[in-house]
Amino acid sequence: MTSATQRLYEDFPFPSPGADRPLISVVADELPLVVEGGLRDGWRVLDAGCGTGHTLVGLAKAHPKVRFVGLEPSGASRAIARRLADDHGVTNLDIVDGAMPHTELDQRFDLVYSYGVVHHLPDPRAGLEWLCRHLAEDGLLHLWLYNDVGEARRMRDRELVQLLSPADEGAALGLRVVRALGLSLSLDAYGMPGAWAGAALDPEEQDVFDADAYLNPVVHTLRFGDLPELLDGLGMEWVAADRVYGPRGAPYLDLDGTNDIPAGRVETVRPEELFDDPELRRRISGLPIAERARAVELSLRPTGFRVLAGRGNSWDKPTRRVRGNLLTRFPRPPR
Ligand SMILES: C[S@@+](CC[C@H](N)C(=O)[O-])C[C@H]1O[C@@H](n2cnc3c(N)ncnc32)[C@H](O)[C@@H]1O
Repeated sequence: MTSATQRLYEDFPFPSPGADRPLISVVADELPLVVEGGLRDGWRVLDAGCGTGHTLVGLAKAHPKVRFVGLEPSGASRAIARRLADDHGVTNLDIVDGAMPHTELDQRFDLVYSYGVVHHLPDPRAGLEWLCRHLAEDGLLHLWLYNDVGEARRMRDRELVQLLSPADEGAALGLRVVRALGLSLSLDAYGMPGAWAGAALDPEEQDVFDADAYLNPVVHTLRFGDLPELLDGLGMEWVAADRVYGPRGAPYLDLDGTNDIPAGRVETVRPEELFDDPELRRRISGLPIAERARAVELSLRPTGFRVLAGRGNSWDKPTRRVRGNLLTRFPRPPR
């Protein structure tokens, strides 16, 4: 992490400086749509870059028989995460000071998730190498990343903010530039219309989201198609597309039509549904899975996307829907 990134999250702990704000339960609720049977008792789970822990504490509270670790370099964020855990009586969780790829943990994890972090690392591949190295033999890696297609406009806005607010002036002045330009991040942009954790952002949280969106010194936007190359050679077995996030919602992907989510439960998207024209539908059905993922990206223009990847012999762990979204299998390293 650059020192400017570190300062940003000390000044603006993400997602909320409020230890009295609601926990985020969506991840706990939806993991069974991604991992068959959800989290299993006895698993060890790592949240790499857990921020203020509103998601992590929500997950740990929902799974008392799973052991959690949160890695987080911002002291301000760690303090809030620890307070949240105490206030909610959560004891199956350690919050650890450190940053990937520098901090070595002496454990390996059945599930490692990292949401909104890898794209802020100066070297995302080094971060991915670290994440893969901390997976157990048959572990799973779940990543949420900014999408290059839907974030193009915000990246231009961010560039203008950076141009007008030199980093050494500090984030508070940078935020004034954001306001003077009339910019403000809307949660609608990530498919969460109007609310976060069931509650609208308060003014302090809005500052945090705007600092994260416009003042971050390092941002690499990515696409599904970048992941096979980024993960190549890191000991993984496969990588699959999971979900996209954007102003038109946050559907789960069903790229080969084997969706196993009960009808009506959540929004899903099949590439054929993107087009009314029968000829376009016919063409898209003939494309390989990775190209169907690309068509969804180019058509829906998501701001964020999620992938699941697995190490060793982990192919039986994702749900059938995720297995149908396989982007690539990696060749096995020679023994
Ligand atoms: C956008 S926030 C996301 C927080 C949390 N994952 C969430 O989704 O609410 C990014 C977080 O990554 C942390 N971070 C930045 N660089 C990091 C690194 N090298 N290793 C681990 N965490 C890092 C920041 O301090 C910050 O808390």
